[in-house]
Amino acid sequence: MKQVAWDSVGLNFWKLGRDTAKPSSDTLDWYTENVTETNSVLIIGGTTVDLINAMEVVGAKVSVVDFSSRICNELRDYVSAQTKIINQDVVNDFKNWGETYDLICSDTLINRFDQDEANRFQENLYNILKDNGKMKSTVKIGMYPMDHELIQFAKNNEISIDFWDEDSNTMDYSKAKPILENALIPHGNINKEDLIAWYGNRCKEKRFYENDLRLLFNSWSSVSIIRDYNDRVKVEVQK
Ligand SMILES: C[S@@+](CC[C@H](N)C(=O)[O-])C[C@H]1O[C@@H](n2cnc3c(N)ncnc32)[C@H](O)[C@@H]1O
Repeated sequence: MKQVAWDSVGLNFWKLGRDTAKPSSDTLDWYTENVTETNSVLIIGGTTVDLINAMEVVGAKVSVVDFSSRICNELRDYVSAQTKIINQDVVNDFKNWGETYDLICSDTLINRFDQDEANRFQENLYNILKDNGKMKSTVKIGMYPMDHELIQFAKNNEISIDFWDEDSNTMDYSKAKPILENALIPHGNINKEDLIAWYGNRCKEKRFYENDLRLLFNSWSSVSIIRDYNDRVKVEVQK
């Protein structure tokens, strides 16, 4: 279901979207640190083109997995012919495609999941990592400006705030469909129609804090969490 959201923006997310939605050059250095030509690296998310290209430059064996067929198709023009593109969901209906990796990277992805999806993501990744393999991911901490806008708009207009669950810190944009247009914040130059389709199909997303991430990966052998930009963290965990 969530892939419908990403099919509606495709690689325009990378071409026209906000720069802050992409990894900075410092963050790219962190992802590629200590990666060598002998390493197999999986990148989750075809919109993270700069990271895919940075791993290609290092010479690693690169695979990309994405549940959006549009993104998989569009990506072919921007990556090396040696880079493998896999069209698959890493959370739901997950089927191991028979490869294991030294490193799995994803950029601001975990904050697109609700708690159940984050749990499945963590388990699935564990199964496709080699022994001592690592997972690196940046995670946006806390609520998005759009969340605040929607809540404020609903309050000002006496609309029920059924799209935000305070107990689980979970947002459901699909429930806010009727008011999305009124609280829409620009995302670079992505057009309004595509943005509304993107938000309206993103469904449930938990807003994570550092403790949620420590709990999520508490069965892994090591967990390191450090700040990235001013609104996210770099999470590095080892199997
Ligand atoms: C990595 S995230 C966030 C954007 C990122 N910060 C960037 O640099 O583009 C978005 C990407 O992950 C993909 N994606 C999201 N959930 C996924 C899932 N469950 N399985 C596979 N791909 C997924 C989306 O289709 C999209 O290409």
